[in-house]
Amino acid sequence: MTAAPPRTVLGIETSCDETSAAVLAAGGAGAARLASCVILSQDVHRVYRGVVPELASRAHLVAVGDVVDRALADAGAALADVDLLAVTEGPGLVGALLVGVTYAKGLACATGTPLVGVHHLEGHLFGTALEDPDAVPPFVALLVSGGHSMLLDVPAWGDYRLLGETRDDAVGEAFDKVGSLLGLGYPGGPAIERAAATGDPARYRFPRPMLHRGQRPGDADYFDLSMSGLKTALIHAVRASKDLDADRPHLARGFQDAVIDVLVAKTLRAVEATGHRRAVLGGGVACNRALRAALARALADEGATLHAPSPRLATDNAAMIARAGLFRAAEAGRPVEAAARLPFPGLDRR
Ligand code: KG4
Ligand code: ZN
Repeated sequence: MTAAPPRTVLGIETSCDETSAAVLAAGGAGAARLASCVILSQDVHRVYRGVVPELASRAHLVAVGDVVDRALADAGAALADVDLLAVTEGPGLVGALLVGVTYAKGLACATGTPLVGVHHLEGHLFGTALEDPDAVPPFVALLVSGGHSMLLDVPAWGDYRLLGETRDDAVGEAFDKVGSLLGLGYPGGPAIERAAATGDPARYRFPRPMLHRGQRPGDADYFDLSMSGLKTALIHAVRASKDLDADRPHLARGFQDAVIDVLVAKTLRAVEATGHRRAVLGGGVACNRALRAALARALADEGATLHAPSPRLATDNAAMIARAGLFRAAEAGRPVEAAARLPFPGLDRR
């Protein structure tokens, strides 16, 4: 337990391929100002067309000390000013997590500063609130990243009800796989978005998985997502293409439109089912401008608003970890261990 509420939080994130540290200045009544945020992306994975876990761990090991020092310097803070350390303990690549967790434990040990472990996805829920004071519960959350895709009912911070999740690939993972199928490199998301911008929406009409009119609230697939059928449709279309260079933008557009249609429809269902007037978008796929525009439009038609983070806070970063750590400050002192799989705290999977 921390004696007084923390004023300066240092967050550390190393769950995948971003080494990040951030300093948060906490104000009263849960307000928090981001004093600094440093994100070092590992370009090594672009060379190997995907995240290579062992290379991610090594890159974190090389960078974590400098990234933390830079974040402190940018904030004009010294280690002695930090009164709470927050680190991502899972889920993610265990070797990558271990680097951040071990480094944070070392800092905690050397300075006597309390340390709290943060769940990466709870971090993504808090990311938008750092920039948008209205991105607070009650809301519906659509978390779409490279590792996870879920739709949540969030009546209050720490109180999460799972409405739906992907049954196979995460949405970002599907973007990455289709990107590679189209010869667009890694990560696929931004490359598909760029290619789709000049694509003809009428050229390819791909299936909208788990979306049909007959679905009713209470049906198992009403909120759930699935990417595998859509991926298969893309594989067939790529094989049938006689000129992939010419068809690439249209294939990218057809894929992106199908994903967006599904995500928009499921988010609207969640808004309708919960009665919440706000939807918060998080995770790397939240960078997609076509998705943001479509969601904002559809929600506005229902009298609801979209709250989406800037691209910097949508992808993995330590600012969101510091913010979630501030919320979990009372848990400092509980053992922190890197874990590839970790139950989402406060999540009701009903
Ligand atoms: O949240 P994130 O940085 O890492 C995970 O926790 O997974 O998300 C990375 C994912 C990648 O799959 C990437 O392709 C996707 O986010 N992504 C995008 C876009 N930018 C990143 N997907 C679609 N459109 C984008 N513009
Ligand atoms: Zn993430």
